[in-house]
Amino acid sequence: MDKKVIVVTGASSGIGAALCKKMGAQGWCVVLAARRLAELEKIASGSGTCTLIVPTDVTKRSDMDHLKKKSLEKFGRIDVWVNNAGRGIGKRVIDLTEQDLDEIMNVNFKSVFFGIQAVVPHFMEKGSGHIINISSFLGRVPFATFRSVYNAAKSAVNTLTANLRVDLRRSHPGIKVSLVMPGVVSSEFQKNALYGTPQVPHFSGSGMKPQTPEEIADILFELIKNPKPEIYTNPASPDMARRYYEDVAAFEDNMVK
Ligand SMILES: NC(=O)c1ccc[n+]([C@@H]2O[C@H](COP(=O)([O-])OP(=O)(O)OC[C@H]3O[C@@H](n4cnc5c(N)ncnc54)[C@H](OP(=O)(O)O)[C@@H]3O)[C@@H](O)[C@H]2O)c1
Repeated sequence: MDKKVIVVTGASSGIGAALCKKMGAQGWCVVLAARRLAELEKIASGSGTCTLIVPTDVTKRSDMDHLKKKSLEKFGRIDVWVNNAGRGIGKRVIDLTEQDLDEIMNVNFKSVFFGIQAVVPHFMEKGSGHIINISSFLGRVPFATFRSVYNAAKSAVNTLTANLRVDLRRSHPGIKVSLVMPGVVSSEFQKNALYGTPQVPHFSGSGMKPQTPEEIADILFELIKNPKPEIYTNPASPDMARRYYEDVAAFEDNMVK
């Protein structure tokens, strides 16, 4: 079979669901992974004619290995693997419990590590493949401090991704590794965050207009066609990141005004 195959975690809603629909419409085979089977079935029915559902908890290494195994059993290859599943939190650093920290690190960071270690050996064997890790602008700029350990987990994703990319560029240049940092996206994410999402004044003043999951899926489709090391999805992000790294003190002064 020569159809291309994409595996997407967090496929049951938001960005992951929109990406599955987009890639299915392009004629790709789509492997949908998340925990909620009924939601996955709904999304799969709108994701073209070549789909596979694999119920997966991304915090379990055995589930991620099983996801790789089932995808290969069904389609014989994986071309693109998207580590997209994630969850926010609404609690400041000082208030976090150790359990909060473990929960958020596991779903946002360990999951990416498991995904990488599951799929990269397959990519190495065939000498090609594209791994895409969905991070966040908040992994680069601590713009919403109530996301605390989520932001830290995404920063860790950024670093892990960059290190993997450099390693593979030396040994397996046919494997592409991309980091994607969305800004605010109008999905269930804000509602699903552990302890919810407080109202934050500087979001409204940031010039960062929320994007839809479908807009992000379009951007991801372009990234798959033309792989890049890393991208911000929101047009306002690069300038904010530049201002932050140019003068952290001034940026933070401005945030607390
Ligand atoms: N929305 C934003 O503003 C925003 C901004 C920047 C970055 N992002 C990132 O974009 C990615 C997608 O978020 P979204 O906006 O699409 O949020 P969403 O609508 O809440 O979707 C989250 C997805 O992750 C899955 N998931 C959560 N825990 C999981 C687990 N333990 N195992 C397997 N799947 C799990 C959920 O599926 P189940 O519940 O069915 O398992 C769901 O499909 C995340 O990595 C998020 O951090 C989002």
